[in-house]
Amino acid sequence: MKRRTLLKTAAAGVIGANLPTLTLAMSSAGKADKEQYDYILTAEHARARIAADGDSDILGFNGQFPAPVIRAKQGRPLRIMFINKLDEATTVHWHGIRIENSMDGVPYLTQPPVAAGASFLYEFTCPDAGTFWYHPHMNSVEQLGKGLVGALIVEEDTPQDYHDVILGLKDWRLKKDGSYLPLSIPREAFRDGTLGTVATINGQQTPTVDVPAGERLRLRFLNMDSTRVFNLSMRSDAAQIIAIDGSPITTPLPLSVHPTGAGMRLDVGFISPSEIGQEIPIFDMKGRFGVEICRLRTVSPKTKMAIKTGIPALPNNPIPVPDLKSADSLSFVFEWAGAMSPSDAKGQVDHNFWLINRRAWSDHSHQNLPAPLAELTLGKSYIFELHNATPHHHPIHLHGLIFTVLESDKKDITPFHTDTILLEKNERAKIAFVADNPGKWMFHCHVIEHMKTGLMGYITIT
Ligand code: C2O
Ligand code: CU
Ligand code: CU
Repeated sequence: MKRRTLLKTAAAGVIGANLPTLTLAMSSAGKADKEQYDYILTAEHARARIAADGDSDILGFNGQFPAPVIRAKQGRPLRIMFINKLDEATTVHWHGIRIENSMDGVPYLTQPPVAAGASFLYEFTCPDAGTFWYHPHMNSVEQLGKGLVGALIVEEDTPQDYHDVILGLKDWRLKKDGSYLPLSIPREAFRDGTLGTVATINGQQTPTVDVPAGERLRLRFLNMDSTRVFNLSMRSDAAQIIAIDGSPITTPLPLSVHPTGAGMRLDVGFISPSEIGQEIPIFDMKGRFGVEICRLRTVSPKTKMAIKTGIPALPNNPIPVPDLKSADSLSFVFEWAGAMSPSDAKGQVDHNFWLINRRAWSDHSHQNLPAPLAELTLGKSYIFELHNATPHHHPIHLHGLIFTVLESDKKDITPFHTDTILLEKNERAKIAFVADNPGKWMFHCHVIEHMKTGLMGYITIT
């Protein structure tokens, strides 16, 4: 069974593929070299138990859910041979990585779609360490909705004194028997998006996650859901935010409640109690009330450890600092179209609910490329003035770059780096970055239904 295996290229023979994998395996000289973070990744149909009473047909990376965790090292090349075993085309996008454009995994915009049965070699270097993730950028409501989401962890150049705990959040649109409810409901897509009915963390419903007692933990929360905002809280000031969306923050901050929208991540440092069998609940807050989403339970550590104290900051990533004085300002208004457009001639309903600067791009295939939202000059600094002119929140994501959030009219901001900004209803915010990565970069809402119904565009950097 391939279920639990994440094949390293050294084991490429196992797949026995007709593919360049063999050449690749040869080039790593057959050595099981731990420093070579090369993977073979498939997308395929599989069955998995997610709902209480029955298995579901899922789409799984390497046929499994949760998907394999890909680990890379900052500044080292990463080679991933992707094999599409679905019966439709797809791509893999590496969310948050300041990647070379041709590896960004957006069909038509950065690469041809990977046809059913075909493969594609993704080869890139991650300049930044942190918590990132990967997912297709095609037929996303279904492909992400049915399980194609996975964690990509880029380890720091210098090892950090933290014990890693990955918490991958994803809800499913399932009935109790494991069959699917409609993945998208137009009247919900028109609002905050269609919420799941079965919530999972690492593929399990409200799991208890074992962690070593008396250890300094790095809880890596990944919101890989297509819709939901998690207001993460541990109801303890001992829990400190150390990174937001992969980017370290200079001074760790107590995690009181942190809104984490679709596509966003949060790294939280926490020293677990030193007694065995202690349980620490984690909540999604709704106002003063919280729903428990999982709990940590302390178990005896594998090796004897020194007593851990303090939550050290993580080293900064090499993000270029924008020159705000010379920066050009561009404005982006996110609007609600507020109407359903009628069926087209083929009887297909084309819903455009959302607009960026008065335009919608909802062509599901991306095949008909519209004009870019903006054309930027390589090396220049830019300020984007974002205005969410809708009564709904939107996690707005930019590919290929990491930007600095400068200010907002809804909250006090200590500038921080991110790849996705959660805009509240009617919020205005300013972000800035150096346009140092040439190519065509998607700029879209990460509520997948919003993106598919218009809230999507791209910028160019040349
Ligand atoms: Cu998670 Cu277009 O991205
Ligand atoms: Cu992305
Ligand atoms: Cu949105």
